[in-house]
Amino acid sequence: MTPIKTVGVAGSGTMGAGIAIVAARAGFRTIVYDTREDALARARKQTEGFFAKSVERRKLTVGQVDTILGNMSATTDIGGLKACDIVIEAVFEDLKVKHAVCAALDDVCPPHTLFASNTSTLSITEIAAGSGREDRFVGMHFCLPAQLMKLVEMSPGLRTSESSFDAAWDFCKAMGQVPVRTKDNPGFILNYFLVPFNNDAIRLVEAGVAAPADIDRAIKTALGYPMGPLELLDLVGLDTHLLVAEALYASTHEPRAAVPALVKRMIAAGQLGRKTGQGFYTYGGAAMFGG
Ligand SMILES: NC(=O)c1ccc[n+]([C@@H]2O[C@H](COP(=O)([O-])OP(=O)(O)OC[C@H]3O[C@@H](n4cnc5c(N)ncnc54)[C@H](O)[C@@H]3O)[C@@H](O)[C@H]2O)c1
Repeated sequence: MTPIKTVGVAGSGTMGAGIAIVAARAGFRTIVYDTREDALARARKQTEGFFAKSVERRKLTVGQVDTILGNMSATTDIGGLKACDIVIEAVFEDLKVKHAVCAALDDVCPPHTLFASNTSTLSITEIAAGSGREDRFVGMHFCLPAQLMKLVEMSPGLRTSESSFDAAWDFCKAMGQVPVRTKDNPGFILNYFLVPFNNDAIRLVEAGVAAPADIDRAIKTALGYPMGPLELLDLVGLDTHLLVAEALYASTHEPRAAVPALVKRMIAAGQLGRKTGQGFYTYGGAAMFGG
């Protein structure tokens, strides 16, 4: 296997921005690709803000941050990922979009490049089927916020070679993350529990049982979770939650995975969560967690 030195991240939204921080912080040259200039600019601003806080908190020196930021670049040209040894895709949770991106990547990347998908609920085998390199395709599901959360659920597709999986596993550890192996199964471990649980919290809001802050306070106080489900949903983004829950429901028909109607109404009103300044809570600015 070619040693991994250069990492590509396709999609620089909520997850891609955090994954790029994780890779660059671990010393990898990191190239972020998105079709939207504004998404790249927003991610760069969040990244600089995140590392400024790391300096304030004395986790990194100014010199270390300069080196990390110097190792990061961004492009709207998919050809900019041609020198990558691994590309992690974090584009919309939509099989057609992921197939289109992976097929285009297959055209520009050399044969040794590994592809990884950050999908929450889609099948790794199905995404890999449209990638042109099913044997070199691995599921790497980071958790939100990726720059703070260590867990990565790693799943081989049916045609993933063990050597590709092992190389991705070693790369995950080299980034300082904690990999857990799972089968290619809807929701893997985390979202199998979390999506129905979060939908239950939304149904409580819908039914007027309690205010979002009280539901979150109850869960945090009694169960010891660092964030309540509605705070987490605002961070995830209601648009992403809809795609993730619909994909989980389509493959499991689990009634609790079905998206409550309130989610669609909030999306129609532009209330996507932190990224639009309004979700279950109201926010100012576009700050990123941690630093
Ligand atoms: N948000 C979460 O909590 C979370 C957690 C873990 C995994 N995921 C998964 O990560 C992936 C991305 O989710 P997100 O929340 O970051 O979404 P997002 O909507 O915040 O960002 C997606 C980004 O992909 C870009 N994009 C879309 N089509 C593209 C294309 N063809 N080429 C290049 N870029 C393209 C968009 O411009 C956008 O910037 C999804 O598969 C999702 O299931 C999300």
